[in-house]
Amino acid sequence: MTAKIIDGKAAAAEVRARVAGIAAEFARTTGRQPGLATVLVGEDPASAVYVRSKGKATSEAGMASFSHKLPDTTSETELLHLVDQLNRDDNVDGILVQLPLPPQIDASRVIAAIDPAKDVDGFHPMNAGRLATGLEALVPCTPYGCLYLLKQELGSIAGKEAVVIGRSNIVGKPMALLLIGESATVTVAHSRTRDLPDVVRRADIVVAAVGRPEMVKSDWIKPGATVIDVGINRVPTEDSKSRLVGDVDFAGASERAGAITPVPGGVGPMTIAMLLRNTVVAAHRRAG
Ligand code: GUN
Repeated sequence: MTAKIIDGKAAAAEVRARVAGIAAEFARTTGRQPGLATVLVGEDPASAVYVRSKGKATSEAGMASFSHKLPDTTSETELLHLVDQLNRDDNVDGILVQLPLPPQIDASRVIAAIDPAKDVDGFHPMNAGRLATGLEALVPCTPYGCLYLLKQELGSIAGKEAVVIGRSNIVGKPMALLLIGESATVTVAHSRTRDLPDVVRRADIVVAAVGRPEMVKSDWIKPGATVIDVGINRVPTEDSKSRLVGDVDFAGASERAGAITPVPGGVGPMTIAMLLRNTVVAAHRRAG
């Protein structure tokens, strides 16, 4: 079987176009654009690229983008002060503090200081708890994007066997909760899981979010399964350049899967699309 390649760029473009329409309507009725504030602490080049593309996508969707850059010597108190200002700013509907933060700053304290109504990352314990209990929540963007692709591909996922590889607060755990919410039968595998290949072989749906290049091998994939690859790993090539690969051996897995996301061009674009979506949702809820 040769898998269908799931086009995350196209799906993200659709979501972004819908969000732009909602943002325009919000601006027409309220007299202001929905606004997203991004906060980047330090000089990490990958984080800088992510934050810049989030800001660009925000403007392209007709929303206000407020970009805050702080030096890597910033103290936790200084960052908490900025978060407090953004919490109070009525033109800011969403606040995104890019992770990771420098070691002198406790990320969990900063996340907890963000107004849950503006927590467009969905990382605040209030939103995590609301997602876990099935209440209306702001949902973390990457797993939300994965769920969007799965539902687009499969329609209903009720009763399907889903295996999530990875248990992070950003992807694995909220992904599992979203799949439970769709009535899938969910297994969360991680570095201590025994017989991981056999666990993955059961899965109608595989979501790989471990950050290890091409760790998931093709013979682990049940024929016809839907494979969502969250990994973005830069690996060196022979000509001393580098290329991006996912957590799944794409070449092999695409011979067995029913459908699979590529890296790049799969989950990545969906993360930004869902961030924009969360921002218009937060703006609407805040505007009452
Ligand atoms: N770092 C890596 N992924 C993310 C994300 O989705 N949000 C934030 N704030 N930081 C990240």
